[in-house]
Amino acid sequence: MPDAIFDHPPLAAIYDTLEGDRSDLDRYVTIAEELGAHRVLDLGCGTGTFALKLADRGLEVTAVDPAGASLDVARGRHGADRVRWVQGDARALTQVEVDLATMTGNVAQAIVDPTDWNSTLRAIHHALRPGGSLVLETRDPRAEAWRDWNRDASWRMTELAGGGAVESWVELTELHLPLVSFRWTWVFPDGQLLTSDSTLRFRNRKEVHDSLTAHGYLVDDVRDAPDRPGRELVFFAHRL
Ligand SMILES: C[S@@+](CC[C@H](N)C(=O)[O-])C[C@H]1O[C@@H](n2cnc3c(N)ncnc32)[C@H](O)[C@@H]1O
Repeated sequence: MPDAIFDHPPLAAIYDTLEGDRSDLDRYVTIAEELGAHRVLDLGCGTGTFALKLADRGLEVTAVDPAGASLDVARGRHGADRVRWVQGDARALTQVEVDLATMTGNVAQAIVDPTDWNSTLRAIHHALRPGGSLVLETRDPRAEAWRDWNRDASWRMTELAGGGAVESWVELTELHLPLVSFRWTWVFPDGQLLTSDSTLRFRNRKEVHDSLTAHGYLVDDVRDAPDRPGRELVFFAHRL
């Protein structure tokens, strides 16, 4: 079951407004171009911002996400007809061959269960052409991002396009490393209060590296995310 933040229509509808500037994704567009990729699989595409940026540059994109409400937002965006949208997870991809697979926005952390993580890596491997690349980002547990997941540090008011403002904040609900659970709360202009509970897995560098190696990838590099120095591990791997 996808988390409400991605799959409850009123929350998916405001996701992009709350995320704001997504220039973090431009770096991944450059990476796709540098790798010479023509066909890209964007796994965990959410509301489709990255998939649409790639399609704008003429790349052939398959964008996959289990959250139907996020995909509905994506399908309604300008240029959406240039992307192949698939509801599901990587296992839904049996007839796809791509040069590059991406998991931006910490999608990898949302795949909490080790069996699901292994089957995701297997399915991506199958979808990649021999030598094709996998680029994924995941929060570095050493930065302890959850320390800011409290009301004081995260509270904000965001203007909505249709008028009014939504109040939002996040609170840690359980810290049981490598699992971190938290609750988002939103208060809409009409007073309606919605919440969404999530759990993420914080894998360390060795754990990600070992799981990639075990599934037939060679790790070429692990970099910083330029917009979040010291906070993210960006893995560059390719299918052997
Ligand atoms: C934080 S959002 C990131 C969305 C998008 N990649 C971005 O950068 O804006 C995480 C996404 O991962 C998706 N997700 C959760 N579990 C998944 C799985 N097993 N396979 C693929 N996507 C998954 C969620 O539905 C959600 O859309």
